[in-house]
Amino acid sequence: LPIAVLVSGSGSNLQSIIDRIEEGVLDAEIRLVVSNRPGAFGLERARKHGIPTKVLTHTDFPSRETFDAAMAEAIAAAGVDRRGLVVMAGFMRIVTPVFLSAFPHRVVNIHPALLPAFPGVHGQADAAAYGVKISGCTVHFVDEKMDHGPVIIQAAVPCLDGEDGDALGPRILKLEHRVYPQAIQWVAEDRLTVCGRHVELRVSGR
Ligand code: GRF
Repeated sequence: LPIAVLVSGSGSNLQSIIDRIEEGVLDAEIRLVVSNRPGAFGLERARKHGIPTKVLTHTDFPSRETFDAAMAEAIAAAGVDRRGLVVMAGFMRIVTPVFLSAFPHRVVNIHPALLPAFPGVHGQADAAAYGVKISGCTVHFVDEKMDHGPVIIQAAVPCLDGEDGDALGPRILKLEHRVYPQAIQWVAEDRLTVCGRHVELRVSGR
């Protein structure tokens, strides 16, 4: 499965994908890593593994749409089309229909909370502050709304008494590193079907 990974920061989810590919348990090939921030550590991780990178600084573009068009073009040029997959991994930008229409039902994101609870950039801290007893992470197909599209997989962690986002976050991140490669592998095996809000997972055994 040809994939492009979009990052803005540390890229630990990117690293988990690279590691599973190198171990031979994820049938994907990262054709390009795109960052909207030149200093993102995820770029370093990609370079270390010989993966092509591209920096597209969003502030260089007059609109979200022109930024998205440039990103879609770079990804297509790297050989990822609608049979491939775009993987948002800590990518801190909302994408517009300009981008999504180039990859219909082929863009996924990971969020550090159990959606639809606690969308937004502080999912871990918001869950901890609310006092929920369970939180976790969600991998979902991306639509025009932030942290909103059809859910592929979720995994849960208990929230401990008095824990804040800084304590909870790393435990959620560990789960992210397990479930994101799994979700991508399901796409690689062509086992997912989107029916409205629902994602059906076909049993394997072909
Ligand atoms: C993760 O918590 C992810 O869920 C969120 O941003 C963080 C990215 O971490 N969208 P990393 O860059 O993959 O280390």
